[in-house]
Amino acid sequence: MTKIAFLDIKRMHDPLRGQLHRAALEVIDGGHYIGGEQVKNFEKEMASWMGAPEVCGVSCATFGLFAALKSFGIGPGDEVITTVHTAIATAEAIGLTGAQVVFCDLKPGYFFLDADEVERKITPRTKALIPVHLYGQPVELDRICALAKAHGLRVIEDCAQAQGARYGGRYVGLFGDAAVFSFFPSKNLGGFGDGGAVAMRDPERMRWLRMFCNHGRESKYLHEFEGINSRLDAIQAALLRVILPQVDRWNAARRSVAEWYGEELAGVSEVLRPADLPGTEPVYHVYVCLVPDREALRTELMRNGIESGVHYPCSLNTLPAFARLGQGKGCFPLAERACEHMLSLPMHPAMTRDEVRAVGGVIRKFYRGGKAS
Ligand SMILES: Cc1ncc(COP(=O)(O)O)c(C=O)c1O
Repeated sequence: MTKIAFLDIKRMHDPLRGQLHRAALEVIDGGHYIGGEQVKNFEKEMASWMGAPEVCGVSCATFGLFAALKSFGIGPGDEVITTVHTAIATAEAIGLTGAQVVFCDLKPGYFFLDADEVERKITPRTKALIPVHLYGQPVELDRICALAKAHGLRVIEDCAQAQGARYGGRYVGLFGDAAVFSFFPSKNLGGFGDGGAVAMRDPERMRWLRMFCNHGRESKYLHEFEGINSRLDAIQAALLRVILPQVDRWNAARRSVAEWYGEELAGVSEVLRPADLPGTEPVYHVYVCLVPDREALRTELMRNGIESGVHYPCSLNTLPAFARLGQGKGCFPLAERACEHMLSLPMHPAMTRDEVRAVGGVIRKFYRGGKAS
């Protein structure tokens, strides 16, 4: 039985091994490990790839979100609205500033936040909105940005899972006041450890953010304010410079895999496949379906050598970390229901048609009541 990996990073990197090794060696032999040309060049290349005015490398997206919120002066007494269905990092970053996180449920039929609910939850204390392009699926940016404009709010796009996704033909990350990217290894623009980046419109705010990540300084011993150490490493930047030119091609391959799943699962009424918002080009960071009998199906997939995942098993409102909000089970019915039924199928750019066929075969057989193979 051949194993089908949920994500096969090694297979993705295999054709790039020589380049990756050379890039790492260049940094090791060069002896310059913090900041410097590799980081500057990566930032320039990423900005030019996505068409952003400027990009600043940071230690991870969690910190990038926190720094972006801080750059807008958000803190205690403020509220920031985001989706309840996201990685905890989005909400953590809000809490870290001292502001209150305000959760919204899902838009019916999608895995991202409901703009109508966002509108209902705006108060005089609301300062920012963080839409999350979860699973690489762009949110309704026109609506979110229009709401922000009408109420004088900042928009920080959480693009951690959506590098290279497009909305109305433009990359996500270009619509809000700031955008944050993660280079966690499994991401579409994945690095070799932790890393992230922030893109911003306002050069002065970007200057502040850059200094904040680097002990509040621009020159070595002149600390203009107390910041923190949260920079992108030189070796990470050098390796990301090899990965960046692959991202659009890899995203196109992910879209093909999604199409193959569509063909395989078209006749399986039990499986609700991901809906894409019209006018968007998703990048399928993960391929999430809603299924009945999830755990039994996962067991059957595993019995056939097929890995799967659940993103995420718990809605944030039900976690002890957010008990203080007093919004336990039942407060976000769509997200909570999704958490019970969602299943992430194997997805990566190196997947073959045969592998997708094998996954489809097991799922079809499972719902027809038979055991696969
Ligand atoms: C939607 C989302 N936001 C933020 C983050 C945080 O990214 P990082 O691990 O780089 O801090 C993640 C990572 O899982 C994420 O999926």
